[in-house]
Amino acid sequence: MHFRALAILCCLAAARGSCPAGQEEVNKTWQISASEDDFEVSHDLGAVSLTDTDLELGADMSPDSSNNVPGKQTIFLMFRNVDLASDATVNFAHVVFTVDGTGGCCDEPLEVTAKMALVSSTPNATALTAQAALNIYENMSTSANVTYAPDLHLVLGAEVSTPDLSAPLREVLAQSSWGNWVLVMFGNSNSTRGPESREYETFDGTQPAAAAKLVVGTCQVPQGGVSSARTRSLGVLLFSFLSLLALM
Ligand SMILES: *[C@@H]1O[C@H](CO)[C@@H](O)[C@H](O)[C@H]1NC(C)=O
Ligand SMILES: *[C@@H]1O[C@H](CO)[C@@H](O)[C@H](O)[C@H]1NC(C)=O
Ligand SMILES: *[C@@H]1O[C@H](CO)[C@@H](O)[C@H](O)[C@H]1NC(C)=O
Ligand SMILES: *[C@@H]1O[C@H](CO)[C@@H](O)[C@H](O)[C@H]1NC(C)=O
Ligand SMILES: *[C@@H]1O[C@H](CO)[C@@H](O)[C@H](O)[C@H]1NC(C)=O
Repeated sequence: MHFRALAILCCLAAARGSCPAGQEEVNKTWQISASEDDFEVSHDLGAVSLTDTDLELGADMSPDSSNNVPGKQTIFLMFRNVDLASDATVNFAHVVFTVDGTGGCCDEPLEVTAKMALVSSTPNATALTAQAALNIYENMSTSANVTYAPDLHLVLGAEVSTPDLSAPLREVLAQSSWGNWVLVMFGNSNSTRGPESREYETFDGTQPAAAAKLVVGTCQVPQGGVSSARTRSLGVLLFSFLSLLALM
């Protein structure tokens, strides 16, 4: 009897997954879709680069049009129209990049720290100074942050994911001024040399469709409404129960 109760409990848990009763798991994706929504801030030059054709995570050692070397950089990604409620379930959150450089450009270990902005009014990247942008990273951002050493990327054009960023995302959603935009920032890079960076596609590159994405695993009431979800989970339960009976 004891075992049977345990088994039923286990199946109940399995049937409910990681979503509240009556909701189903969905993955939602938002993508950078404007030139100024992915940008780099050079620490050495004190400059914001809105239109670079790739994002160098870490450092950019290629001279710009004025022959200055950007050096260490902080990367900013602005995702808009993020239609998540402030109490949405966040099972996971990843930024997905497309690799734009492999080999000698970017094959040394580096470390970055990802955070998200906590600013009540929407930042306007075209009017943002480097100082103001770095101030958002340093002083107006989530206390939850994720430090990681990006993998070496071996395949040009491959999609690669950051580690899970659900902790900073939950902090952003929970703020009273949650405004349906998420500004993800990658800073605190320990890069000192170009070959330590990772290179990703931008909206201004050759493939705007390969610009960065935010992918969030969340829960929603199924399109067919609550009743169909309930019917479905009842169906799963009934099936689990019958399977159990068959085993006994
Ligand atoms: C959501 O994405 C995760 C991770 O990539 C995957 O394991 C899962 O099957 C996806 N779920 C749906 C409902 O597509
Ligand atoms: C940066 O951090 C990574 C991971 O901890 C380490 O392997 C690498 O040597 C560091 N790079 C520099 C330039 O300090
Ligand atoms: C953003 O800043 C630019 C440059 O200062 C300005 O022209 C534009 O109107 C601003 N956009 C918004 C939405 O405030
Ligand atoms: C962060 O705030 C501190 C304290 O006000 C200030 O000294 C520092 O310059 C700020 N950081 C940036 C990048 O503006
Ligand atoms: C990340 O969070 C830890 C713990 O709250 C904090 O000590 C650290 O300063 C944060 N790092 C950054 C770069 O914000």
